Amino acid sequence: MAHYAVRESPPLRGEIPISTSKNAVLPIMCGALLTGEDVRIERVPELTDVKTLCALLASCGCSVKKEGDALVLNAGALQNPQDEEDVRKMRASVLVLGPLLSRLGEARIPLPGGCAIGQRPIDQHLKGMSALGAKVKFDHGGVTLSGRLRGAVIYLDMPSVGATENLLMAATLASGTTRIENAAKEPEIVDLAAFLNAMGARICGAGTSTIVIEGVRALHAVSWQPISDRIEAGTFLVAAGITGGELLLRHCPFAELEAVILKLQSMGMDITATPDGVLAKCGCPLRGADITTQPYPGFPTDMQAQMTALFATTPGISVVKDTIFPQRFMHCSELKRMGADIKVDNGTAVISGVETLSGAPVMASDLRASAALVLAALKAEGTTEIHRLYHIDRGYEMIDEKLLAIGAAVERLPDDDN
Ligand code: UD1
Repeated sequence: MAHYAVRESPPLRGEIPISTSKNAVLPIMCGALLTGEDVRIERVPELTDVKTLCALLASCGCSVKKEGDALVLNAGALQNPQDEEDVRKMRASVLVLGPLLSRLGEARIPLPGGCAIGQRPIDQHLKGMSALGAKVKFDHGGVTLSGRLRGAVIYLDMPSVGATENLLMAATLASGTTRIENAAKEPEIVDLAAFLNAMGARICGAGTSTIVIEGVRALHAVSWQPISDRIEAGTFLVAAGITGGELLLRHCPFAELEAVILKLQSMGMDITATPDGVLAKCGCPLRGADITTQPYPGFPTDMQAQMTALFATTPGISVVKDTIFPQRFMHCSELKRMGADIKVDNGTAVISGVETLSGAPVMASDLRASAALVLAALKAEGTTEIHRLYHIDRGYEMIDEKLLAIGAAVERLPDDDN
């Protein structure tokens, strides 16, 4: 396994091409299982989560071809996953349930466990499938769903992104009309619905809390370019903030990143939409701020760790509350090893900004936590070694190369024991 050696870096300057959104691509890849015809997905990012899902789709009988940076998927010979290990590797694998059930009349997957960012149950996915007429049976650590699906009204207890996506896909081929109430409104859901509509689905209201799906008999081939990654973009905005730099983010969503942009602006950053992309400048010292994560359009939990890293060296007291994943504070103990002053209690972190951090060996605990450690390391005296890079490789495309290109001192090195 490799690690990063990151040295304190000068203000980052230059242009960054923002990659396609991981959280948009993964459900869209699962959506390809809804048709026996070719689905072409453009500009697919090089991420281990994408590779893991490719292996899972292949184990479901789907052919997976790479053409440059596009993926061509064909699920003409769809079956249930033959290798349960592929499902266990990644939480987003649960999104094959809806497509498998609606096309095959039966779907079986092993139940996902907890993860570093807390318990992540799938009760809302299952409650919705059951409302659509599926029988749900638990056995041998897995769940089997079976039955012909028919339209229904589903009320989600919380606006779960994954449950909304899974149910949206399942309902697409159900008979009759389905209404999902208290649906999640994330831009990735809007993109998934637009993708499915381009395949012949009839979905209205994606992006609002009521989504209506009129079932159709079959979907057809499509070629799709998913949206850009708002969380990768937000991470680079924080990189500009923490180093006092100036970055132009190409293919960068603006409206979808509003909660993050407004917060960074309130702290003193200058962020504007230009015809070439989003321009972020940070010339003066920033002020601390408070954030509370919320479902979209609220502040995204996936930007919480990176903001905590920024607050660690921003003068003043900042308070971070995560209402989506209250246990998602593993990065704080590593930031404290680098000299940050953070107290975590009951889903809330209170951060007193220090002038500078101090490089140390640290361990990444999850995807966004690893990004937070990289950001903090840019502002830490000496060298920070960041271990367990498999977390960052899951969801950030070539982050070390992108950072190097804008002046960061980042090296990917093999571990000594290898
Ligand atoms: C997705 C994102 C993830 C992001 C999260 C919240 C993908 C691949 N992942 O994850 O990056 O952090 O949204 O924005 O898009 N819950 C239940 N029961 C359920 C489902 C969810 O209790 O059946 C709870 C979860 O434990 C959590 C909250 O609902 O507290 C939100 O989870 P959810 O929106 O489902 O997150 P994911 O779709 O897993």
